Amino acid sequence: MDWFAWDFDHPAYFQIYADKAADAATEGSALAALLHLPPGSRVLDLPCGWGRLHPHLKAQGLEILGGDLSRMNLARHREEHPAPLARLDFRALPFRAACADGVFCAYTSWGYFTRREENLRQLAEFARVLRPGGALLLDLAGRNFLRDAVAEAEGQWLDFPDEGYRERVTWSADGRRIRTERRCQGATFRHDIWIPTDTEVRACLAEAGFGAITACGGLDGRPWTAAAERWIYRAVRR
Ligand SMILES: C[S@@+](CC[C@H](N)C(=O)[O-])C[C@H]1O[C@@H](n2cnc3c(N)ncnc32)[C@H](O)[C@@H]1O
Repeated sequence: MDWFAWDFDHPAYFQIYADKAADAATEGSALAALLHLPPGSRVLDLPCGWGRLHPHLKAQGLEILGGDLSRMNLARHREEHPAPLARLDFRALPFRAACADGVFCAYTSWGYFTRREENLRQLAEFARVLRPGGALLLDLAGRNFLRDAVAEAEGQWLDFPDEGYRERVTWSADGRRIRTERRCQGATFRHDIWIPTDTEVRACLAEAGFGAITACGGLDGRPWTAAAERWIYRAVRR
């Protein structure tokens, strides 16, 4: 089974990422503002996870449809934030072409696939479902920030007793992917995510059909820098 089909669909995921609920208000309203679409716009929240950002997108007057692969996340979304939802895989979206004004892709939700073609396919699917002129918001981890943050403890098991899990982070031998192993609730998990350079992100966006690519380096819209913790891209469907 692919790691992303297992990791996000296990109850331990909610335990490990419990703190992300508290971040939702700040992240959701800031990212929704950076998507920068008028009220009434039809936006696909891909992936929507358990819907923690949903109320903040709605608060901007956007019409939201959420999609995600994880049945467990979708079930929680349905319970906590009732909304139109679809179970889907990024590589083949169950939507007709040009049906959306926006695609909202928050919290490092790109780069999960092993092959570049599949990661490109995710962006191409986003482009396909957007109308020409529609906007994609792609919120990624800044590669250089992450590299520096991980450097000191790379390869060491760290304990998070309050949260109830252990974690070890390593880069792949070629330095392109970050691997986060976690032990929680008696199970072992492994995230394995491609962390692209800025040049690679822009090349993939362009190849997938996007233009007018801009980026900022934080939730407050500050200018992009190579050292920024977040690289938040906005790109327009050509
Ligand atoms: C880091 S979470 C982000 C969720 C949400 N954007 C947020 O900020 O809370 C990544 C999500 O991607 C979903 N996912 C992973 N692989 C997927 C795939 N191939 N197709 C669709 N969703 C996928 C997971 O189930 C998980 O809910």
